[in-house]
Amino acid sequence: MKIINVAGARPNFMKIAPLAAAFANFARIESILVHTGQHYDERMSQTFFRQLAIGQPDVNLGVGSSSHASQTAAIMKAFEPVVLRHKPTAVLVVGDVNSTVACALVAAKLGVKVIHVEAGLRSFDKSMPEEINRILTDAISDFLFCTEKSAVENLRREGATDEKIFLVGNVMIDTLLAWKPKAEGSRILDSLNLDGQPYAVLTLHRPGNVDDAEVFSRLLDAIEVIQRDMPVIFPAHPRTRKDIVGLPLRRRIEGMANLRVIEPAGYLDFIKLMSRAAVVLTDSGGIQEETTVLKVPCLTLRKNTERPVTCEVGSNVVVGTRPENIIAAYREAVSGRGRKPKRPPLWDGHAAERIAAILAERL
Ligand code: UD1
Repeated sequence: MKIINVAGARPNFMKIAPLAAAFANFARIESILVHTGQHYDERMSQTFFRQLAIGQPDVNLGVGSSSHASQTAAIMKAFEPVVLRHKPTAVLVVGDVNSTVACALVAAKLGVKVIHVEAGLRSFDKSMPEEINRILTDAISDFLFCTEKSAVENLRREGATDEKIFLVGNVMIDTLLAWKPKAEGSRILDSLNLDGQPYAVLTLHRPGNVDDAEVFSRLLDAIEVIQRDMPVIFPAHPRTRKDIVGLPLRRRIEGMANLRVIEPAGYLDFIKLMSRAAVVLTDSGGIQEETTVLKVPCLTLRKNTERPVTCEVGSNVVVGTRPENIIAAYREAVSGRGRKPKRPPLWDGHAAERIAAILAERL
């Protein structure tokens, strides 16, 4: 059987890596890797292929950035001939980015089975483009692989039948556990002169946070207070960087001596940076999961999370964007009184193997 694996944006690459490796262990499965090119900068794409030993994509659609409609349409138009040429048994998509929904839709319309890894997560907030991508992708998928129980419940409530739903664990955590020992060797703490002192890590890239100057400014009110306590390391996503440049916010950021804006970090450096942090502040989805396993306090700068297990058993707290709430949660997190995280069930480094075994048997 032939499976086309699709990856497009930064958080897809660490999810595809263990799947491609697991498929390689099954003689029956031939897998092909398609990169849509949604992310294309060296630091947003190639670095991850190199560090995670993914190997070059078989096909790169090279679509690049544009509006949601244009980008989704460009991916669909470029992906359709690839599916027609390769005639796969199934197309596998991961996560919730525009590449995910675009390629799932192309496959479903061509009568090719769709496999969604990380299915069923819901923030119940349709102002997030990812929520729309998740709902649509799940609705047309034939295999729904879930990371946590809430996802299974969401899918059942939406009418998915039990034969399609598999609780298998978390492929992103497969990658984290596999590469953590190598990440220990990263020199990033030395290069940032951080070794031995407490510091915070900040990531922001949600349009609702960074494209809205008022919200971004509120977040900076909190960061201003935190950076008086400890250095705040801020690897800035290209979207965020563009939002900072040319805004009055730029002068504010430059005025904070202990807020250190750096380039997006590579995978191994970022894992090392998070693993030693006193606290991580983020609006990312994957980072809520990685900090749970790394047992590092995580403050999610959003109103909701599609990953509730990270709050139930992990160290994650959804704090929103009001400065007073962020500061109070920060003080609690660094006080040591915070939660003692446990690892969610099946986040054991073997999710991709389970997925490959299920597909080898049932596809
Ligand atoms: C995308 C995903 C988001 C994911 C995030 C991870 C969607 C709808 N959003 O958001 O779910 O959490 O990736 O990073 O799919 N840019 C560059 N270089 C790049 C890529 C992007 O400069 O390699 C800039 C471009 O100006 C682009 C902007 O960043 O317009 C946003 O990129 P885009 O892929 O549209 O969305 P993200 O914010 O990265």
